[in-house]
Formats: sequence, C-alpha cells, structure tokens
Amino acid sequence: MYRIDGMAERYVLCVDDEAIITESLKRELRHELPHLRVEAAYSGETALSLLAEISQDGGEPAVLVTDERMPGMKGHILLREARKAFPRLYGILLTGYSDIDAIAQAVNEAGLFRYIHKPWERRDLVMSVRRAAELYDREAELELLRRKVEELNTALIAALENQARDWDPDSFCHVQRVACYAALLGRKLGLAEAEVRKLYTYAPLHDIGKAGIPHEILDKPGRLTPEEFEVVKRHVEIGTNLLKSIDIDEFAKDLILYHHERWDGKGYLAEMVGARIPLSARITAVADSLDAMLTKRPYKDALPFDEVAREIEADSGKRFDPAVVEAFRTEKDSFRQISAGDASRHCGKFRDPA
Ligand SMILES: [Fe+2]
Repeated sequence: MYRIDGMAERYVLCVDDEAIITESLKRELRHELPHLRVEAAYSGETALSLLAEISQDGGEPAVLVTDERMPGMKGHILLREARKAFPRLYGILLTGYSDIDAIAQAVNEAGLFRYIHKPWERRDLVMSVRRAAELYDREAELELLRRKVEELNTALIAALENQARDWDPDSFCHVQRVACYAALLGRKLGLAEAEVRKLYTYAPLHDIGKAGIPHEILDKPGRLTPEEFEVVKRHVEIGTNLLKSIDIDEFAKDLILYHHERWDGKGYLAEMVGARIPLSARITAVADSLDAMLTKRPYKDALPFDEVAREIEADSGKRFDPAVVEAFRTEKDSFRQISAGDASRHCGKFRDPA
C-alpha cells in the first residue's frame, strides 16, 4: 500500500553476479541519488528474496537494475518474476549487444522500462534510475488521489442515499433494487468486476434529477399531460447538472443522462440509436423498467413478475438492447428472487457484488 511521502523509503536494487560491478553501481547510485535507498544482490534468486524482505519491512521496491547474463536466473527472468510480486516496479536491464532475444522478452513479459548496453555510460544509468523513481512516485501519487476521489464519491453517494431514504422510503428501495438488477445484468454481460461495481454504486443515482421535478407531477395519480411529461423528461439533465461539480465517473454521467434512450432511437434525451447509447445506460434502462413495472405507483398497479418478464422480452430490439434482454432472460430466476424478497434484506445481500 502506498504511504505518504517521507513515510516509506523507495528502494533501488542492483543485481549482478560480479561483486565489483554491483558494488560500484551501488556506490554511484547512492552518491547521485541520496533520497533513494540503494541495495545490491549477486543473483536473481537472492534479489527476489531481498525484494520480499524490503517490502515486509515497509519499504517500497521502486527500481530494479539487473545484468542479463548471470549464472542461474537470467536478468529478464528476474524482471518478470519481480514484476509479478511488485507490478509497479520499474525494470532496467544491462545487456550485451547480442542479447536481443532477452530484451524482447523483458519488454513483452516484464514491461521493461529501459535497457542499457554494457559498458554503460554512468550518466545514462543514473538518469534512467532517477527517471524510473520519479515515475514510480508520480504513479503512487495518482493512485492516492484516485482513491481519495473514490472515497469522496462514495461518501457523497451515501449522503444522497440517506437523504433519499428520509424523503421517500419507497423510492429509496426502488433505486436500491435497480442497483442490484443493473449489477447482475452487468456481470451476466461479462463486464469487468470494476464496471459491475460502478453499476452498483451509480445506478441508484439514475433518477437523482427527479429532486428538481414538482411532486404534484411525479405523484399525479392519472396520466400526465404532454406538457407535464416534458417537465418529467428534464430529470435526466437536472441529474447530470447536480453532479457536474463532482469528479464523477463518465460511466455514471452516461447512465444518468441516457437511461431513457431507446435501442430503436425513440427515447429521450438525445434520441440515440442502438450501440451508440452508452452500455451503462442500456443496462440501467432495463433494470429501471423492470422494477418500475413490478412496483405499485400512484398512477398504476404492480404487475406480476412473469408478465413483466414477457414485456421486457417483447421490447428486445425496440426499447431495449437485445444483449441486455438476453442477459435478463438467462438470469430470470435471480431477478425473480430479488423482486420477491424483502427490500431491505435483499438490498443488503447485494451491497457487495464482488
Ligand atoms: Fe428516469
């Protein structure tokens, strides 16, 4: 785990079976780059053990400089193995002119940062290690920032959810179920787990813009007039504007803005067609409609699950993306179980979709 600057030492490990070379390399780097801890090992095997020790003691292996030609483990194999344990590690390979195959393998299998021909120019080597350590730090800082933004987003969403729960418990359960449905659909469609988690996190916000629509329209027991419907349609834009100041994921913005688009292009707001509609919105459209039809509203009764399923399937290729409908069809029993369960219990059950 990344620690704030000053708390964790960055390590450079130099590896060569010739002790004289390794020690002179270590001295040089220590002299030129005093802010880094420079250590040495005389074989690939001991280098791997040393990297593990450094990490266990709270240090961060940032750069590995290794000779290619060593007895036992070759340099490119060491780089590959070291990167398996420390994926952010930067590798520098010291090679002869005939080591082109080893270089290719190190590039392809170990994300080699630089290769330097022997005998190396002192300046070249120091500059390469300095650059690698700087890039390591920058990536660590970006990762820290990314986590902070994610934490802030999560806190904000939790606050919005809590408020929604107080305002309108029924709507709160609706958005929670939509989150469960959307995450299930995403997983069935083969999305990466990070995307499934985003669906689960952000789908509850799909109708956040309804906070800007008058209650007398939203709760009207009868049919809406065309003018009233125009007002309701604005909720997608209002929702996107509400979240404009937050560094919210593009995936989430798309989901809010386009969840009323239709596969056949007859939806709103942008009247997009087919796969031009972002996938997060195509998934949310099915999840939202499914729960809306299953739920009693002031202007309509709840429909039985089988009837709702038939409606969803009949709208494949019209209102909905056929691939999303297919994902629903093959996973129908799970959706039925969620819809039949106690709202608070099943929302909790799906809180962590991993
Ligand atoms: Fe909506």
